[in-house]
Amino acid sequence: MTDRELIKQAKKAMEYAYVPYSRFKVGAALLTKDGMVFHGCNVENASYGATCCAERIAVFKAISEGKKFFEKIAVVSDSGKLTPPCGICRQVLLEFMPEGMVILENEIGEIKTYSVKELLPIGFTL
Ligand code: THU
Repeated sequence: MTDRELIKQAKKAMEYAYVPYSRFKVGAALLTKDGMVFHGCNVENASYGATCCAERIAVFKAISEGKKFFEKIAVVSDSGKLTPPCGICRQVLLEFMPEGMVILENEIGEIKTYSVKELLPIGFTL
């Protein structure tokens, strides 16, 4: 699957975002090494702190379905701007796809790719 196709899948996932508090929709699409796509959207909560980002939902869905080898994850938001993963999501990506890539789209529709290691250099591991 191309980066562009994965971005399209992330945009589809974004439609389901539950964002009554921030009104900021995020979508993610995670490609496994065996070619499956897991989708995620952000899901907010009245307590705010219980909110979960789109990226982590996609990763946790995949892990809970027995998949653990990932190639890349695309992330988009309805801001139309480049939407890089937050720090907590970077840490989760490092755990499950340290050699993986993050695919983003900027405000003029260009695809930008970053390695997980580039986004979280010297990340924490046990
Ligand atoms: N959000 C994500 O889904 N992914 C990120 O990496 C950054 C933030 C969500 C969380 C919250 O629902 C909204 O964006 C505003 O922070």
